[in-house]
Amino acid sequence: PLATTGDLVTRAAAARSAVAAFNIITLEHVEAVVAGAESAGVPVVLQVSENAVKFRYGRLRPIARAAVAAAERSAVPVALHLDHVQSDDLLRQASDAGFSSVMYDASRLPYAENLAATRAAAEWAHAQGLWIEAELGEIGGKHGHPPLDAHAPGARTDPGEAHAFVADSGVDALAVAVGNAHAMTERTAALDHDLLKRLAGALEVPLVLHGSSGVPDEELAAAVAGGIAKVNVGTALNVAMTGAIRAFLATHPQAVDSRKYLSVGREAMVAEVERFVAVLGARPAP
Ligand code: G3H
Ligand code: ZN
Repeated sequence: PLATTGDLVTRAAAARSAVAAFNIITLEHVEAVVAGAESAGVPVVLQVSENAVKFRYGRLRPIARAAVAAAERSAVPVALHLDHVQSDDLLRQASDAGFSSVMYDASRLPYAENLAATRAAAEWAHAQGLWIEAELGEIGGKHGHPPLDAHAPGARTDPGEAHAFVADSGVDALAVAVGNAHAMTERTAALDHDLLKRLAGALEVPLVLHGSSGVPDEELAAAVAGGIAKVNVGTALNVAMTGAIRAFLATHPQAVDSRKYLSVGREAMVAEVERFVAVLGARPAP
């Protein structure tokens, strides 16, 4: 059934586990994530990034409808989340399209502007009944240093600043920069677990780990034990899908029916979803 992200994250945090949130791009991603969650018997979040909407010719509805339909017929709770939203126009489409939550990403801005934009987004989101996540990791920039990429090596979320940011913006969850980076195709990230512990101690809202594709199993399990309650995974599904399709086409050079290689790619994603949720210690669906 269709669930809400806020409910799934709250339950995961209470159980000291984490809910996995997978980025969906194609219909095969939607089917694979739901199939993997069903076979593991755990709830899951389907998330659509602003970049994925751009890929769909700027339209949110087609992929949203597919995700809502998959969630409604799923044997496990499935929530829809709009990810890395920078556009206010897209933010305003979330509720009507069936999303229960958004991640509003103004982390590229200096602190004061990030806070102001996020506070405005949170007020709007809450008026719609949406759960909202934001990101704080631009440690550079506010002291006159050139702005760092939010996930560049060296960029970290400061616990004191994070506490003030959450209190002043009113967001429901915070994405933290603790050594994680987006779009890693190898699982070699080393997380700063001491910083994560300090962040968890400083904040009452659940913490979100982005860029989880690049995080090794032991590090992921430790991050969940350290207070991460939502784990975002995107690239790993594409690595699995594309690798499987590449291997299939190499051994089947005459193949032309797209169902032949898409089904191979989809099965590889199902296996990747199962692997991730097992590492997270995700509890069986209620
Ligand atoms: O918001 C999406 C996630 O942070 C995905 O990151 O593609 O590196 O796994 P990833
Ligand atoms: Zn992310």
